[in-house]
Amino acid sequence: MLFGKTILVTGVASGIGARTAELAGQMGADIIGVDVREPSSGISSFIKGDISTAEGVADIVRQLPNRVDALANVAGLSGSTGVAATLAVNFYGLRTLSEAVAPRLREGGAIVNVASIAGYGWRANLERTKKLTAIEGFPDVAGLVAEHGLKNEEGYPLSKELLLLWTMRAAHQALFKDRGIRVNAVSPGPVETRILKQFRAVLGDARVDSDITRVGRAGTSADIAPAILFLCSDGARWINGANLPTDGGLEASINADVLGF
Ligand SMILES: NC(=O)c1ccc[n+]([C@@H]2O[C@H](COP(=O)([O-])OP(=O)(O)OC[C@H]3O[C@@H](n4cnc5c(N)ncnc54)[C@H](O)[C@@H]3O)[C@@H](O)[C@H]2O)c1
Repeated sequence: MLFGKTILVTGVASGIGARTAELAGQMGADIIGVDVREPSSGISSFIKGDISTAEGVADIVRQLPNRVDALANVAGLSGSTGVAATLAVNFYGLRTLSEAVAPRLREGGAIVNVASIAGYGWRANLERTKKLTAIEGFPDVAGLVAEHGLKNEEGYPLSKELLLLWTMRAAHQALFKDRGIRVNAVSPGPVETRILKQFRAVLGDARVDSDITRVGRAGTSADIAPAILFLCSDGARWINGANLPTDGGLEASINADVLGF
Protein backbone atom coordinates (compact mmCIF):
# COMPACT_ATOMS: atom_id res chain seq x y z
CA MET A 1 0.00 0.00 0.00
CA LEU A 2 3.03 2.28 0.28
CA PHE A 3 4.91 1.08 -2.80
CA GLY A 4 6.10 4.03 -4.86
CA LYS A 5 4.70 6.58 -2.42
CA THR A 6 6.74 9.52 -1.14
CA ILE A 7 6.45 10.03 2.61
CA LEU A 8 7.84 12.98 4.51
CA VAL A 9 8.84 11.92 8.04
CA THR A 10 9.91 14.41 10.71
CA GLY A 11 11.96 13.33 13.73
CA VAL A 12 13.73 10.84 11.51
CA ALA A 13 17.08 10.86 13.36
CA SER A 14 15.90 8.75 16.27
CA GLY A 15 13.28 6.54 17.90
CA ILE A 16 9.82 6.29 16.34
CA GLY A 17 10.64 8.50 13.34
CA ALA A 18 13.73 6.45 12.48
CA ARG A 19 11.80 3.16 12.65
CA THR A 20 8.89 4.61 10.64
CA ALA A 21 11.27 5.67 7.87
CA GLU A 22 13.04 2.31 7.88
CA LEU A 23 9.80 0.32 7.69
CA ALA A 24 8.34 2.56 4.98
CA GLY A 25 11.52 2.06 2.97
CA GLN A 26 11.18 -1.73 3.35
CA MET A 27 7.61 -1.41 2.04
CA GLY A 28 8.79 0.33 -1.11
CA ALA A 29 8.18 3.98 -0.21
CA ASP A 30 10.59 6.83 -0.85
CA ILE A 31 11.36 8.74 2.32
CA ILE A 32 12.21 12.36 2.80
CA GLY A 33 13.47 12.68 6.35
CA VAL A 34 13.55 15.88 8.40
CA ASP A 35 15.32 16.38 11.71
CA VAL A 36 17.25 19.02 13.59
CA ARG A 37 19.96 16.35 14.13
CA GLU A 38 21.77 14.24 11.53
CA PRO A 39 20.49 10.65 11.40
CA SER A 40 23.13 7.98 12.02
CA SER A 41 21.74 5.53 9.45
CA GLY A 42 21.48 6.45 5.79
CA ILE A 43 18.27 8.15 4.67
CA SER A 44 18.24 8.60 0.90
CA SER A 45 16.82 12.09 1.16
CA PHE A 46 17.43 14.09 4.33
CA ILE A 47 16.70 17.73 5.13
CA LYS A 48 18.38 19.12 8.22
CA GLY A 49 15.78 21.48 9.59
CA ASP A 50 14.23 22.90 12.73
CA ILE A 51 10.44 23.09 13.04
CA SER A 52 10.55 25.23 16.19
CA THR A 53 10.25 28.52 14.27
CA ALA A 54 8.26 29.81 11.28
CA GLU A 55 11.55 30.50 9.45
CA GLY A 56 12.79 26.97 10.15
CA VAL A 57 9.59 25.50 8.73
CA ALA A 58 9.74 27.75 5.63
CA ASP A 59 13.33 26.67 5.03
CA ILE A 60 12.32 22.98 5.11
CA VAL A 61 9.34 23.52 2.80
CA ARG A 62 11.54 25.32 0.24
CA GLN A 63 13.57 22.13 -0.15
CA LEU A 64 10.62 19.78 -0.70
CA PRO A 65 9.52 18.33 -4.03
CA ASN A 66 6.22 19.57 -5.48
CA ARG A 67 4.40 16.38 -4.64
CA VAL A 68 4.38 14.10 -1.63
CA ASP A 69 1.84 11.44 -0.67
CA ALA A 70 1.92 11.69 3.10
CA LEU A 71 3.40 13.62 6.00
CA ALA A 72 4.23 11.81 9.24
CA ASN A 73 4.68 14.40 11.99
CA VAL A 74 6.84 12.46 14.44
CA ALA A 75 9.39 15.05 15.70
CA GLY A 76 8.77 16.06 19.29
CA LEU A 77 10.27 17.26 22.56
CA SER A 78 9.67 15.74 26.00
CA GLY A 79 9.01 18.98 27.84
CA SER A 80 12.40 18.95 29.60
CA THR A 81 13.48 22.08 27.73
CA GLY A 82 10.55 24.18 28.94
CA VAL A 83 6.97 24.87 27.97
CA ALA A 84 7.67 27.43 25.20
CA ALA A 85 10.08 25.18 23.27
CA THR A 86 7.76 22.20 23.70
CA LEU A 87 4.66 23.99 22.41
CA ALA A 88 6.69 25.46 19.54
CA VAL A 89 7.88 22.05 18.29
CA ASN A 90 5.09 19.68 19.32
CA PHE A 91 2.20 21.84 18.21
CA TYR A 92 2.72 25.21 16.52
CA GLY A 93 5.70 24.08 14.42
CA LEU A 94 4.01 20.81 13.50
CA ARG A 95 0.83 22.64 12.48
CA THR A 96 2.71 25.28 10.48
CA LEU A 97 4.60 22.56 8.62
CA SER A 98 1.38 20.65 7.90
CA GLU A 99 -0.36 23.74 6.54
CA ALA A 100 2.65 24.64 4.39
CA VAL A 101 2.99 21.09 3.03
CA ALA A 102 -0.77 20.76 2.28
CA PRO A 103 -0.56 22.22 -1.27
CA ARG A 104 2.17 19.68 -2.11
CA LEU A 105 0.22 16.72 -0.74
CA ARG A 106 -1.52 14.81 -3.51
CA GLU A 107 -5.30 14.66 -3.52
CA GLY A 108 -6.31 11.89 -1.15
CA GLY A 109 -2.99 12.14 0.69
CA ALA A 110 -2.57 11.91 4.44
CA ILE A 111 -1.13 13.59 7.50
CA VAL A 112 -0.41 11.53 10.61
CA ASN A 113 0.36 13.32 13.87
CA VAL A 114 2.16 11.47 16.64
CA ALA A 115 0.32 12.63 19.76
CA SER A 116 0.42 10.72 23.07
CA ILE A 117 -1.60 9.24 25.90
CA ALA A 118 -0.30 12.35 27.68
CA GLY A 119 -2.87 14.35 25.66
CA TYR A 120 -5.72 12.41 27.32
CA GLY A 121 -6.81 15.53 29.20
CA TRP A 122 -7.95 17.50 26.14
CA ARG A 123 -11.61 17.10 27.09
CA ALA A 124 -11.06 17.95 30.77
CA ASN A 125 -9.16 21.11 29.73
CA LEU A 126 -11.39 21.87 26.76
CA GLU A 127 -11.69 25.66 27.14
CA ARG A 128 -7.91 26.11 27.26
CA THR A 129 -7.38 23.59 24.47
CA LYS A 130 -9.88 25.41 22.24
CA LYS A 131 -8.37 28.81 22.94
CA LEU A 132 -4.79 27.77 22.22
CA THR A 133 -5.62 25.86 19.03
CA ALA A 134 -7.75 28.75 17.74
CA ILE A 135 -4.67 31.00 17.52
CA GLU A 136 -3.72 31.08 13.84
CA GLY A 137 -0.23 31.03 12.37
CA PHE A 138 2.98 30.69 14.36
CA PRO A 139 2.43 32.76 17.51
CA ASP A 140 5.02 34.37 19.77
CA VAL A 141 5.08 31.26 21.97
CA ALA A 142 7.06 32.86 24.82
CA GLY A 143 4.46 35.67 24.97
CA LEU A 144 1.64 33.13 24.93
CA VAL A 145 3.20 31.20 27.82
CA ALA A 146 3.47 34.40 29.87
CA GLU A 147 -0.07 35.52 28.97
CA HIS A 148 -1.63 32.20 30.01
CA GLY A 149 0.70 31.57 32.97
CA LEU A 150 1.69 28.15 31.59
CA LYS A 151 4.08 26.09 33.70
CA ASN A 152 6.99 24.04 32.38
CA GLU A 153 5.54 20.76 33.65
CA GLU A 154 2.32 21.44 31.69
CA GLY A 155 4.17 21.82 28.39
CA TYR A 156 4.23 18.22 27.16
CA PRO A 157 0.67 17.15 28.02
CA LEU A 158 -0.68 20.50 26.83
CA SER A 159 1.14 20.24 23.49
CA LYS A 160 -0.44 16.83 22.88
CA GLU A 161 -3.90 18.01 23.99
CA LEU A 162 -3.67 20.79 21.39
CA LEU A 163 -2.50 18.31 18.78
CA LEU A 164 -5.40 15.93 19.40
CA LEU A 165 -8.00 18.70 19.18
CA TRP A 166 -6.37 20.20 16.07
CA THR A 167 -6.29 16.76 14.38
CA MET A 168 -10.10 16.67 14.55
CA ARG A 169 -10.42 20.28 13.44
CA ALA A 170 -7.95 19.88 10.58
CA ALA A 171 -9.88 16.90 9.20
CA HIS A 172 -12.67 19.41 8.46
CA GLN A 173 -10.48 22.37 7.49
CA ALA A 174 -10.92 23.37 3.83
CA LEU A 175 -7.14 23.41 3.25
CA PHE A 176 -7.08 19.64 3.77
CA LYS A 177 -10.67 18.48 3.31
CA ASP A 178 -11.27 20.09 -0.09
CA ARG A 179 -8.51 17.94 -1.55
CA GLY A 180 -9.38 14.77 0.35
CA ILE A 181 -6.32 14.97 2.61
CA ARG A 182 -6.99 12.95 5.74
CA VAL A 183 -5.59 14.09 9.10
CA ASN A 184 -5.27 11.51 11.90
CA ALA A 185 -3.29 10.94 15.07
CA VAL A 186 -1.48 8.01 16.65
CA SER A 187 -1.16 8.10 20.44
CA PRO A 188 1.56 5.91 21.92
CA GLY A 189 1.91 5.11 25.61
CA PRO A 190 5.47 4.90 27.01
CA VAL A 191 7.91 3.79 24.27
CA GLU A 192 11.55 2.76 24.80
CA THR A 193 13.31 5.65 23.05
CA ARG A 194 15.73 8.28 24.30
CA ILE A 195 12.80 10.58 25.14
CA LEU A 196 11.50 8.11 27.77
CA LYS A 197 14.33 8.96 30.17
CA GLN A 198 13.38 12.62 29.87
CA PHE A 199 9.72 11.76 30.57
CA ARG A 200 10.82 10.08 33.77
CA ALA A 201 12.44 13.36 34.79
CA VAL A 202 9.44 15.49 33.72
CA LEU A 203 6.46 13.28 34.69
CA GLY A 204 8.15 11.27 37.45
CA ASP A 205 9.05 7.56 37.63
CA ALA A 206 5.77 6.70 39.39
CA ARG A 207 3.60 7.87 36.46
CA VAL A 208 5.75 6.19 33.81
CA ASP A 209 6.05 2.93 35.78
CA SER A 210 2.33 2.84 36.51
CA ASP A 211 1.57 3.24 32.77
CA ILE A 212 4.02 0.44 31.93
CA THR A 213 2.64 -1.85 34.64
CA ARG A 214 -0.93 -1.46 33.36
CA VAL A 215 0.01 -2.98 29.99
CA GLY A 216 2.91 -5.28 30.95
CA ARG A 217 5.77 -3.57 29.12
CA ALA A 218 6.82 -0.34 27.44
CA GLY A 219 6.22 -0.12 23.71
CA THR A 220 8.99 -0.09 21.13
CA SER A 221 9.38 2.06 18.04
CA ALA A 222 8.57 -1.07 16.02
CA ASP A 223 5.15 -1.21 17.75
CA ILE A 224 4.28 2.33 16.68
CA ALA A 225 5.67 2.61 13.13
CA PRO A 226 3.11 0.23 11.49
CA ALA A 227 0.20 2.23 12.94
CA ILE A 228 1.62 5.47 11.54
CA LEU A 229 2.17 3.91 8.14
CA PHE A 230 -1.30 2.33 8.02
CA LEU A 231 -2.85 5.77 8.53
CA CYS A 232 -0.53 7.14 5.80
CA SER A 233 -1.76 4.47 3.38
CA ASP A 234 -4.85 4.30 1.17
CA GLY A 235 -6.00 1.36 3.31
CA ALA A 236 -7.04 4.04 5.82
CA ARG A 237 -8.91 6.03 3.17
CA TRP A 238 -12.15 6.25 5.22
CA ILE A 239 -10.40 7.13 8.49
CA ASN A 240 -10.24 10.86 9.11
CA GLY A 241 -9.93 13.03 12.21
CA ALA A 242 -9.33 9.91 14.31
CA ASN A 243 -6.92 9.16 17.14
CA LEU A 244 -5.52 5.64 17.18
CA PRO A 245 -4.24 4.76 20.66
CA THR A 246 -1.19 2.56 20.06
CA ASP A 247 -0.42 1.70 23.64
CA GLY A 248 -1.07 -1.98 24.41
CA GLY A 249 -4.44 -1.07 25.96
CA LEU A 250 -3.30 1.75 28.25
CA GLU A 251 -6.03 4.19 27.22
CA ALA A 252 -8.72 1.53 27.69
CA SER A 253 -7.41 0.92 31.21
CA ILE A 254 -7.36 4.65 32.04
CA ASN A 255 -10.87 5.06 30.60
CA ALA A 256 -12.07 2.29 32.89
CA ASP A 257 -10.65 4.12 35.92
CA VAL A 258 -11.79 7.61 34.91
CA LEU A 259 -15.28 6.59 33.78
CA GLY A 260 -15.73 3.91 36.42
CA PHE A 261 -16.56 0.77 34.40
N1 LIG B 1 8.85 7.62 23.57
C1 LIG B 1 7.68 7.76 24.18
O1 LIG B 1 7.48 7.26 25.29
C2 LIG B 1 6.57 8.51 23.51
C3 LIG B 1 5.27 8.35 24.00
C4 LIG B 1 4.22 9.07 23.40
C5 LIG B 1 4.48 9.90 22.33
N2 LIG B 1 5.76 10.03 21.87
C6 LIG B 1 5.98 10.95 20.76
O2 LIG B 1 6.65 10.29 19.72
C7 LIG B 1 7.37 11.25 18.94
C8 LIG B 1 8.76 10.71 18.66
O3 LIG B 1 9.45 10.60 19.87
P1 LIG B 1 10.56 9.48 20.16
O4 LIG B 1 10.09 8.70 21.31
O5 LIG B 1 10.93 8.80 18.89
O6 LIG B 1 11.73 10.43 20.71
P2 LIG B 1 13.17 10.77 20.11
O7 LIG B 1 13.73 11.79 21.01
O8 LIG B 1 13.92 9.52 19.92
O9 LIG B 1 12.85 11.41 18.68
C9 LIG B 1 12.38 12.72 18.50
C10 LIG B 1 13.07 13.31 17.28
O10 LIG B 1 12.54 14.63 17.05
C11 LIG B 1 13.62 15.46 16.65
N3 LIG B 1 13.33 16.87 16.90
C12 LIG B 1 13.22 17.47 18.11
N4 LIG B 1 13.05 18.80 17.96
C13 LIG B 1 13.03 19.03 16.62
C14 LIG B 1 12.89 20.22 15.84
N5 LIG B 1 12.78 21.41 16.41
N6 LIG B 1 12.91 20.11 14.50
C15 LIG B 1 13.07 18.89 13.91
N7 LIG B 1 13.23 17.74 14.59
C16 LIG B 1 13.21 17.80 15.94
C17 LIG B 1 14.78 14.97 17.53
O11 LIG B 1 16.04 15.41 17.04
C18 LIG B 1 14.59 13.47 17.50
O12 LIG B 1 15.32 12.85 16.46
C19 LIG B 1 7.33 12.55 19.72
O13 LIG B 1 6.37 13.41 19.16
C20 LIG B 1 6.90 12.10 21.11
O14 LIG B 1 6.22 13.12 21.81
C21 LIG B 1 6.81 9.35 22.42
